[in-house]
Amino acid sequence: MNVLITGRLPDDVLALIKKEHNVEINIHDRPMDREKIISGITDKDGLLCMITDKIDRELLNKTRHLKIIANYGVGFDNIDVEAATERGIYVTNTPGILTDATADLTFALILASGRRVVEGDKLTRAGKFKYWAPLLFLGHEISGKTLGVVGMGRIGKAVAKRASGFGMKLIYTKRKRLEKSEEKALNIEYVSLESLLKESDFVSLHVPLLPETRYLIGERELKLMKSSSFLINTSRGPIVNESDLIKALKSGTIRGAGLDVYENEPELTPGLIDLENIVLLPHMGSGTKETRKKMALMAMENLLTGLHGKKPPNCLNCDELSVC
Ligand code: DGY
Repeated sequence: MNVLITGRLPDDVLALIKKEHNVEINIHDRPMDREKIISGITDKDGLLCMITDKIDRELLNKTRHLKIIANYGVGFDNIDVEAATERGIYVTNTPGILTDATADLTFALILASGRRVVEGDKLTRAGKFKYWAPLLFLGHEISGKTLGVVGMGRIGKAVAKRASGFGMKLIYTKRKRLEKSEEKALNIEYVSLESLLKESDFVSLHVPLLPETRYLIGERELKLMKSSSFLINTSRGPIVNESDLIKALKSGTIRGAGLDVYENEPELTPGLIDLENIVLLPHMGSGTKETRKKMALMAMENLLTGLHGKKPPNCLNCDELSVC
């Protein structure tokens, strides 16, 4: 069968598919041109795509016998799952395996923004570290502070566990409240989004990008936050209205922020890079060698299973497909 893989994968993972199928691969470590994906997809039975590829109706209309779209990532807002389902195409993602890597990076942003790590690095490199002084680069203590987790799924829970180790108080909000026993085990308290924003010293976002979560955090929500607080986002950029965030950071509505994801990724809203009180990372939450290998293996297993006409393990639309 014919397969398109739009990003770099480890050789041993590629070997799993090359022995059985004809594979077209993007060998560059950058997104494949959309035009190339569109022209390449027509004769393909399988697609292993990156989260940067927009798999929409226009593209799906070019497919003739595509059986499976295996996303290399847990977030799948890049794929029109409904349009794929209408065409009888399996859609899969890579859940569970990038939880720890993403939670670690979230914590790196909490620490970096609270303790001014990047500003300190810049000053030292600039040769401006002349002496230790009682008021030099004062940051914000992490232990004893309140962390508000918005969205208590796998990654939210992993962040909560790390925060407990740092002696933080934990509150959370979620569409569907957790069982009391789980709240107790995680030592977390359920509150409304409004209370969470008012009470937290650090607000960390862990919701998927859906029509109802787009711009979940804008001017109104930022104004509810404490002027000493920080906003951390390692989920999806459009959850936050970036222009409103820039205004809030400039005016002191909130103290600082740490972002790994952007509203119009990879473009940054003008004004963002001019701010000192924000740490900016290039969407690298899952970016460890170990996790990326696991993601490649999981996406490949999904792809191969779907190509063989069986339900893939991490299927997002199998329930809908079985009634189609
Ligand atoms: C995902 O898998 O959704 C991540 O954002 C990729 O790092």
